[in-house]
Amino acid sequence: MTSTPHSVARTETFEAVLTRRVSRRSMLRAGVVVGAGAAVHSAFGTGTAAAAPAADGHPFALDFPPLEPPVPMPFDDTALAAGFTSEVLIRWGDGLFDGMPAFDVDAQTAKLQAQRFGFNSDWTAFFPLVRGGVDTGRDGLLWVNHEYTDGLMMFRSYDPDNPTKQQVDIELAAHGGSLVRVLQGGGGTWRFLRGERNRRVTAYTPIQLTGPAAGDPALRTSADPTGRLVLGTLNNCGGGVTGWGTLLTAEENFDQYFANNDALPEGKYKALNQRFGVPGGESGRKWERFYSRFDLAQEPNEPHRFGWVVEIDPFDPQSRPRKRTALGRLKHEAAAGVSAKDGRWTVYSGDDARFEFVYKFVTRDRVRDGGFAANRDLLDHGTLYVARFNDDGSGDWLPLVFGTGPLTRANGFTSQADILIRARDAGTALGATAMDRPEDIEPNPVIGSVYIALTNNDRRGTEGNPPTDPANPRPVNTAGHVIELVEDGQDAAATSFRWDILLLCGDPEDPSTYYGGFDKSQVSEIAAPDNLAVDSLGQLWIATDGAPRVLPMNDAVVGLPVIGPERGRTRQLFAGVFGSELTGIYFNSTETTMFVAVQHPGEGGTVDEPTSRWPDPAGEVARSSVVAIRPA
Ligand code: FEO
Ligand code: CA
Ligand code: CA
Ligand code: CA
Repeated sequence: MTSTPHSVARTETFEAVLTRRVSRRSMLRAGVVVGAGAAVHSAFGTGTAAAAPAADGHPFALDFPPLEPPVPMPFDDTALAAGFTSEVLIRWGDGLFDGMPAFDVDAQTAKLQAQRFGFNSDWTAFFPLVRGGVDTGRDGLLWVNHEYTDGLMMFRSYDPDNPTKQQVDIELAAHGGSLVRVLQGGGGTWRFLRGERNRRVTAYTPIQLTGPAAGDPALRTSADPTGRLVLGTLNNCGGGVTGWGTLLTAEENFDQYFANNDALPEGKYKALNQRFGVPGGESGRKWERFYSRFDLAQEPNEPHRFGWVVEIDPFDPQSRPRKRTALGRLKHEAAAGVSAKDGRWTVYSGDDARFEFVYKFVTRDRVRDGGFAANRDLLDHGTLYVARFNDDGSGDWLPLVFGTGPLTRANGFTSQADILIRARDAGTALGATAMDRPEDIEPNPVIGSVYIALTNNDRRGTEGNPPTDPANPRPVNTAGHVIELVEDGQDAAATSFRWDILLLCGDPEDPSTYYGGFDKSQVSEIAAPDNLAVDSLGQLWIATDGAPRVLPMNDAVVGLPVIGPERGRTRQLFAGVFGSELTGIYFNSTETTMFVAVQHPGEGGTVDEPTSRWPDPAGEVARSSVVAIRPA
């Protein structure tokens, strides 16, 4: 038995847990071997089973000397572990199409911004362009989410109390996501190409609502009496790639764009808006002054059209994105997926707010060969579940299905559409476990496990709030933790699971921290885990958001093994810029490069008085950018 951070006995050996499921990506790699009969340590005990693939020659094998960044870091710098190099691949404001003028902070227009790389980059995904059956890993399309905008960091002399319509329009155009052709040259350096393969999706791109809630009266507005066509996507945070080659981009903190919840009559929608944080009066952004759709006094249903997972076909720049209502409406952090044993697709998602829940969607049908054309409606049919983490280390996926359990008319639920629009209310009715802000969730198909980042919860156990529980074991959890979940039968479609805690983050000298059972004197410290990625070795990578509030460090990217004797040994690879969080960890298809987005560099400064000008110290303003990291 490894020591566990709570006293729950672990009796199951989990040999099945450790039976490696080789992912498609791992099979691409030469030299993948099974460590026959090796003793393998996991969160669930010590067993005899297959080990992770051999790390020989993998560019990101966790055997490098961990970065020990300077304290404090210079304001205009990132830092990287020895043996690696990086370049800035693309910045906010870079033109994506031919003939565009260079970015100029003093010459912004909404029309130009809609053709430029957006603001505050978050999740990224790399889609290789394969020619003649060969994937070099050096040529592809990079998708990047643009989570939100910050007028103070975008405009000179910005007045938050009185934004202009032109500023609001530029901000609308800087939301959404970018799809960009990227190429790695002979010297190893990555660059992006302008041209027609690129695409911007913004806060006014037409998007189809599909699935069980599409067309529901609660989704109809005066601009869209069908309830099936939305303008734009907002607060795109995490995401995932599907088994049929599309991307899922997740709408998170949509509440901030809306105003005047107090104008609604008392009832379920007003209460739900409050739970989401929609302001009773005017919004912080004040977009409602220029666009009635953001004013609930005029358009009470518009917020119901955000908080969804959006599917986009990256290979067709003209295709219409789709909001998939079957996956539920919440503050979706992520949408990472994996195949179930029978070929159905599974999407995991966290609802990032204090005491909110973890969800999983399982499609009704199997993934078919033939890309998006053959799987066009796959995400419109299936079952959404919410997680209950039992105190004994077991867990249950509770179905959000109208007419089952408490999800009935007697309890105020009127249809499946109503349950999906009010997934939070349904989760509460089902008795889901209230978590410490679920951020990214990432299946690990190499190991057969799933990782959940709980970034922090400074109200856990405080007066009037839920107490600690085994899955959220620390009061006032400022440093966050990571849960490891193993589906029963190692089948992503299972309705029950086992879980344990992999990390309790924070200062390793703090006795309440736990680094997978590894010697804490040898780990790289981390706090506030957020974005996750898994490589073909089954190694887990974590990007942090808010570590400087807990530890004397900038936000970081760390990697750690999740099985074997070094389980829990975090190694820092990268340190972000002052004021930034790190996001978007994604590998190219040959895992020779890691893409990391640096979001809100210099936050706290303004265009007039910047605290950082990264990545261009001679420039006017800090610019959120994507960095390509690779062996030196
Ligand atoms: Fe957008 Fe929860 O991070
Ligand atoms: Ca996040
Ligand atoms: Ca991820
Ligand atoms: Ca975060």
